[in-house]
Amino acid sequence: MHILVTAASKHGATDEVADAIARRIEASGITVDRLAPADVTSVADYDAVVVGSAVYILQWMPEAHDFMERFKDELPAGRVWAFSVGMNGVPKHSRQDGSRVGPLLTHVKCRDLHTFAGRYKPSLLSLRERSVARLAGVVEGDFRDWEAVDQWADEIIEALKA
Ligand SMILES: Cc1cc2nc3c(=O)[nH]c(=O)nc-3n(C[C@H](O)[C@H](O)[C@H](O)COP(=O)(O)O)c2cc1C
Repeated sequence: MHILVTAASKHGATDEVADAIARRIEASGITVDRLAPADVTSVADYDAVVVGSAVYILQWMPEAHDFMERFKDELPAGRVWAFSVGMNGVPKHSRQDGSRVGPLLTHVKCRDLHTFAGRYKPSLLSLRERSVARLAGVVEGDFRDWEAVDQWADEIIEALKA
C-alpha cells in the first residue's frame, strides 16, 4: 500500500504535524510519500491521501486549496483524510466547522476532517501577521497534542488495513 501525506504550512507547525502522521503510518509498514502540495504532480499511484493545511483567516492556505482543486477528480474515492491545524482556545469557532477551510471540501468527499490545535509563536511572524493574529484572538503557545496526532494516524492505519 502506498499513501501520500501532504500539507501546507507557513511557519512549520503544520509540517511537523504532517511529519508525525507520516512517520506513524510508515512505522505500521505502509509506504508513505511525504510531499509539499506544490510538489505533487499526480495522485494516480496512491491508495489513500492525507491532506492538511494551516488555517489562516478561517481558510486553508492557497497551496492546499490549489492541491484540492488540481486533484479533486482524481483523489482516491473514500480514501482521503483531511486535517486542519489552527488556533487554540477561541470558543467562537467550532473546531470541526467545515466552513473554516472554505468551499474545497464540497468538491472532495473526505473520510474525516480533523482539526488539531497549532502553534502561535509571535517571534516567527511579521508585524502584520502579529496584528491580524491579535485581532483574531489567537492565543500564544504551542498547543499541538502529539498523542492526538498519533491517535488520528492510528485511525487511518486501522481503516486502511481493514
Ligand atoms: C495571522 C494569523 C491568522 C490566523 N488565523 C487563524 C484562523 O482563522 N483560524 C485558526 O484556527 N487559526 C488561525 N491562526 C493560527 C494558525 O493556524 C496556527 O498558528 C498554526 O499553527 C499555523 O501553522 P503553521 O506554522 O504551519 O503555518 C492564525 C495565525 C496567524 C498568525
